[in-house]
Amino acid sequence: MGQARVMTPAPIFDSLETLRTRTSAKWTVFEPDVLPLPVAEMDFQLAEPIAETLMAAIRRSDTGYQFPHTALPEAFAAFAGRRWNWTVDPGQVWTTTDVSVAIVETLRRVAPVGSEVVVNPPIYPPFFDLIPEAGHRVKEVPLAPDGAGAWMIDLDGLEAAFAGGARAFLLCNPHNPLGLPHSRETLAAVAELAQRYDVAVVSDEIHGPLTYPDATFTPFLDVSDAARRQGVCVTAASKGWNIAGLKCALMVTAHPNKATIVGGMPDEVNWRTSIFGYLASVAAFSQAEEWLDSALVQLRSNRSLLGNLLAEHLPGVRYAEPQASYLAWLDLRALGWGDDPSAHALESARVALNPGPTFGAEGNGFVRLNFACSPEILVEAVTRLAG
Ligand SMILES: Cc1ncc(COP(=O)(O)O)c(C=O)c1O
Repeated sequence: MGQARVMTPAPIFDSLETLRTRTSAKWTVFEPDVLPLPVAEMDFQLAEPIAETLMAAIRRSDTGYQFPHTALPEAFAAFAGRRWNWTVDPGQVWTTTDVSVAIVETLRRVAPVGSEVVVNPPIYPPFFDLIPEAGHRVKEVPLAPDGAGAWMIDLDGLEAAFAGGARAFLLCNPHNPLGLPHSRETLAAVAELAQRYDVAVVSDEIHGPLTYPDATFTPFLDVSDAARRQGVCVTAASKGWNIAGLKCALMVTAHPNKATIVGGMPDEVNWRTSIFGYLASVAAFSQAEEWLDSALVQLRSNRSLLGNLLAEHLPGVRYAEPQASYLAWLDLRALGWGDDPSAHALESARVALNPGPTFGAEGNGFVRLNFACSPEILVEAVTRLAG
């Protein structure tokens, strides 16, 4: 929006006392003695350029409708170019309420009603609801071991699902809950298969900005012509800068056939974008990249702190550091806490975690822990869990 770039102070974690005054889900769903570590919200104070932008909007009573225009497409395209060397055409970027809505509205249009849509469990639980909401059926192709101790998309399983009639693939890149940015080779192979079987790929890249500097995020639409032909990217500033409540997401295409579909959505889909979300997202992409980098430094330190704490207090827990985002996928099977260890954690330790089984059957015996909190809270949570 032509504003001068301002120096961004490093992010600060709010104190527990201040956090408990927040009214967001993370801080109101559980009883006051519970440490809440589910819900993908961060405990940082808002980035200064975003806070300033929002306060300026409030001061001028700028609380009406968001008319679709070019500021956010241009800010996102510039960010994607700087950060990932990905060339985005701002003319192929549209906005809507949130990534969940973007997924539903896109899936509705890229596959005939009642189609099978592939997901890779363990997977972000709402995927199991968004697909039926779009009028389709979930087809599970679980992630597979990559032979080197990590996980990857099961390309043979994916091909079998495509050959069996699936019409779309809801890709999660980076993958939640594993924090796995898929490799360029894997994504190119996915695109190749999608083209061969004419399957649409909806790539949820909401966690992309939170990829750590020691890993590489590859936007799906950047990998090949096949990817651009088959794919739609859905993304947002909402995870990277913790502004999910402001309601704004982007839908990005890179081929006329998908641009026709997304650009042809009813105007109302775009008009549902919140003006606060729009303004904050422009500020995030264009003025708060330094803040994001400093947030990643803090999160990276928490990522290893968690490993050290688990090794010391709960050595039975298996944890592979995520390469993106602040969600840890913990294997608690050795603790004997049952299929849903989060129930035991809540009852006995008063620590709230996401129940593994909601991510699919592969999540039995697992929990997801959000480490975007102060080191003090993380220490307290693991100490409580160790009982
Ligand atoms: C992979 C993934 N997609 C979508 C969402 C939800 O995004 P939104 O709030 O924009 O609907 C989340 C939230 O954590 C997520 O992890």
